Amino acid sequence: MTSIHLLNGPNLNLLGRREPQIYGGDTLADIEAMLQAHAGQRGVALTCRQSNHEGELVSWIQEAGLAGAGVLLNAGAYTHTSVALRDAIAGSGANVVEIHLSNVYAREEFRHKSLIAPVCRGVICGFGKTGYILGFDALVALVALAGPPSA
Ligand code: DQA
Repeated sequence: MTSIHLLNGPNLNLLGRREPQIYGGDTLADIEAMLQAHAGQRGVALTCRQSNHEGELVSWIQEAGLAGAGVLLNAGAYTHTSVALRDAIAGSGANVVEIHLSNVYAREEFRHKSLIAPVCRGVICGFGKTGYILGFDALVALVALAGPPSA
């Protein structure tokens, strides 16, 4: 069975109350439930995790990558700062789709640079919670194309 890990980074636990004019009114639990329902319809196993800690995200990316699971990653602010996340993606060989709720290119200049984008398979941003569905479907297609992990 295809396996996808949804990893959300710092401050995304505050969705619903955090700058709703930018990030929308849904909580992270709402988004995870939406995606779990979608994954169920598609017959894909989905694991959802969130952390405010960079090292924990590093460990989860490694775990998913080494297991051959695809990763849907909203790294939050670490997108713009983290060499460690970038190295975890490159080092574990994880198939990662980077997602953002907001259109980071229409915001402050410091959000225009992603350190992880060059080692991700693609980037989706600016579509709000729908981006999680779009990223998930892209990842399922990618993981299916990649086939099972080599022994
Ligand atoms: C975000 C965009 C980031 O720049 C920001 O730091 C976040 C959320 C988004 O989903 O739009 O925490 O990743």
